[in-house]
Amino acid sequence: MAIREVLRMGDPRLLEQARSVEQFDTADLHALLKDMDDTMKVLDGAGLAAPQIGVGLQVVIFGMDQNPRYPDAEAVPKTILINPTLTQIDDEMEDAWEGCLSVPGMRGVVPRYKRLRYRGCDQYGVVIDRTVEGFHARVVQHECDHLFGVLYPMRIRDFRQFGFADVLFPDAPVNDD
Ligand code: NI
Repeated sequence: MAIREVLRMGDPRLLEQARSVEQFDTADLHALLKDMDDTMKVLDGAGLAAPQIGVGLQVVIFGMDQNPRYPDAEAVPKTILINPTLTQIDDEMEDAWEGCLSVPGMRGVVPRYKRLRYRGCDQYGVVIDRTVEGFHARVVQHECDHLFGVLYPMRIRDFRQFGFADVLFPDAPVNDD
């Protein structure tokens, strides 16, 4: 088990475009995914992208049953998604609060597409093709943004709805990200 350091906003590696994975079911890929899973679990994240631990590959993981950081969010299936492509279904957007392990302690309201189709592969190269909406669609958009060097504050439209989690939500359970 290896918990890796999560890069924080300001690190130029978070602004780079990630490379495609060329080979599946390799020892290196499995080791990367194990580290990502360990790191996400210990930090109670809803998702993690490989660039957040300094690995510039198109690999994201996300999903949870019930997450203390998102107590009102619906469950999202545990997913490993490699070389993803996102396709817009329609123009409808939705605003909701987001946080990010690379922007610790902060929350902001981010507009995201309400519905989308995403495709990619799992760690064995098996195709994943899903059409989703709501929180699931939001998590996918947030994580895949990391593969293009985009952090959620770059998508905020109203900076009056951006701040420190413990100030914005003083009654919420404390967590240190
Ligand atoms: Ni993030």
